[in-house]
Amino acid sequence: MSDAPAFDAGFRERLAELFAWRRDVRRFRTDPVDPALVDTLIETASLAPSVGLSQPWRFVTVDTPARRAAIRAAFADSNAAALAAQPDARAAAYAALKLAGLDAAPVHIAVLVEPDPAQGHGLGRTTMPETVGYSAVLAIHTLWLAARAAGLGLGWVSILEPERVCAILDVPADWRLVGYLCLGWPAAETVTPELETAGWEHRRPASVVRR
Ligand SMILES: Cc1cc2nc3c(=O)[nH]c(=O)nc-3n(C[C@H](O)[C@H](O)[C@H](O)COP(=O)(O)O)c2cc1C
Repeated sequence: MSDAPAFDAGFRERLAELFAWRRDVRRFRTDPVDPALVDTLIETASLAPSVGLSQPWRFVTVDTPARRAAIRAAFADSNAAALAAQPDARAAAYAALKLAGLDAAPVHIAVLVEPDPAQGHGLGRTTMPETVGYSAVLAIHTLWLAARAAGLGLGWVSILEPERVCAILDVPADWRLVGYLCLGWPAAETVTPELETAGWEHRRPASVVRR
């Protein structure tokens, strides 16, 4: 007899709602998040699949005010550069977007990858070394869904120079930034992506190429 749980239709419906209502959140309430909950989410994220079972993700919680201020300054510089690179017709719309919740989010987590970890014995990495980074992305997505299921919102900030972030965080030289995450209680819940609400982009229906 198997101990495996049965996932019934009711569970699948709720899971579909979780997928639909997971949002990239940039507007947070400032109420604190229990550190034990953050630890649980990181444990859940560590159940993600990884090439060769290498578990190459490295979670860094960014807690000190000085490091957070340095990250906010790095974001401001990168976002100003991104604004300057916008075509004239798009610049005002870009400037109006809210692209990070770094000020209000009570929890900051940088997710990095160790590109050549001993764990996993290099399996799968000879042909596709990039799968190490993909594995870290899967951990982020697992964390994202688990956070949403706990009522938390997560926002991925990529408007950052990775080397600058690594220097701020003082991590081992070979670690590379995959994602900088803001985590906290969302100011609002919505089923619509913020970029769609802002009129910047809209979600298309799924499509498949068949060969
Ligand atoms: C790899 C990655 C990087 C992202 N970087 C940013 C970012 O720097 N700032 C931001 O506001 N949103 C960022 N996002 C969030 C996307 O804009 C968001 O996922 C998309 O608009 C769809 O919205 P949804 O996640 O709410 O469904 C990022 C998402 C991913 C997957």
